[in-house]
Amino acid sequence: MIGSNLLRVASIASIATFAFGTTAANAQSLVINDEETMIIQAPAAAHLENMDEVFSGWNFRTVETQALQMDDFDNPGMIFVDQAIDQWDTVDGAAGESCGSCHEGGTAEFAGLRTVLPRWDEDAGGIQSMADYINECRTERMQAEAWTWSSSKMTAMTALIGLESRGMPVDVVIDGPAADAWELGKEIYYTRVGQLDMSCANCHEDNYDTMIRADHLSQGQINGFPSYRLKNAKLNSTHARFKGCMKNIRAKPFGEGSDEFRALELYVASRGNGLSVEGTSVRN
Ligand code: HEC
Ligand code: HEC
Repeated sequence: MIGSNLLRVASIASIATFAFGTTAANAQSLVINDEETMIIQAPAAAHLENMDEVFSGWNFRTVETQALQMDDFDNPGMIFVDQAIDQWDTVDGAAGESCGSCHEGGTAEFAGLRTVLPRWDEDAGGIQSMADYINECRTERMQAEAWTWSSSKMTAMTALIGLESRGMPVDVVIDGPAADAWELGKEIYYTRVGQLDMSCANCHEDNYDTMIRADHLSQGQINGFPSYRLKNAKLNSTHARFKGCMKNIRAKPFGEGSDEFRALELYVASRGNGLSVEGTSVRN
């Protein structure tokens, strides 16, 4: 599965103080609260020429970390979901509105939304992520301040809304008006950057299921985002994770909420089409 690319990357990696080693994914199934079965392995989308199957990042975590995601009482990310439930009915901004005052059906109105985001949006004339829709409501409809993408309020609200799609397969559209952004995202994914001269694909396509330092490399899927990381004890947005990976290879990261990261988010999401939205995933 890994082939000659490993050798190529390993030689770069040895200079770069990264070392890949082999291991096997923890084979199990992800059933949440003893009732909701997640799709954590699926046939790769047709556009993925170098892979047959796609895997949720959950497969690559330790048994202990996996267990935290199997019950909402144990999932540390759920504290933030509770905070978002309170935020939902909090009046904020000059218009005197709360989310709940307009969205009278509650967050259940958003069932399925997470599976199709990010997506082309005709009104915005570009790719829009969950955070964009939330901020549009905040600035234009509530006359409140926008939340930054990595603020705890934003990640918590995206988690709450995402939970309404838990279990449903990711299904982002990549053609039609979304095609240009998708191509840009793909180009970013395969372009080597930074002092270590590596691309996303070098790690997450050529070397997944190997060890890099103490970390078991996954395919870098985003079906579980926002993701609770044990490392920093908070929810992390997709763009924050992209930024972290770019910094690790000593590249200058794009900004959170930039068009480049929206395009990359669309492309990476499309690599996980078919995997379940996991609500709030737990990672190390
Ligand atoms: C003044 C009324 C109003 C308020 C307040 C409001 N929204 Fe909205 N929201 C709307 C309208 C109208 C739309 C567009 C609906 C559509 O396009 O179908 C929308 C769209 C959305 C969408 C995209 C839905 C989709 O299917 O495309 C999300 C997500 C959302 N709102 C979340 C929120 C959140 C979270 C809050 C609170 C921070 C909030 N909204 C506050 C009126 C409001
Ligand atoms: C030097 C190797 C390396 C490169 C290059 C790299 N990453 Fe990562 N990435 C990691 C490691 C290590 C982790 C943590 C373990 C894991 O989930 O794979 C990670 C995690 C992730 C995750 C979280 C997956 C999950 O299930 O929570 C995403 C998403 C991700 N990377 C995307 C990217 C993108 C996009 C790029 C290119 C901009 C990239 N990575 C480049 C090493 C890398």
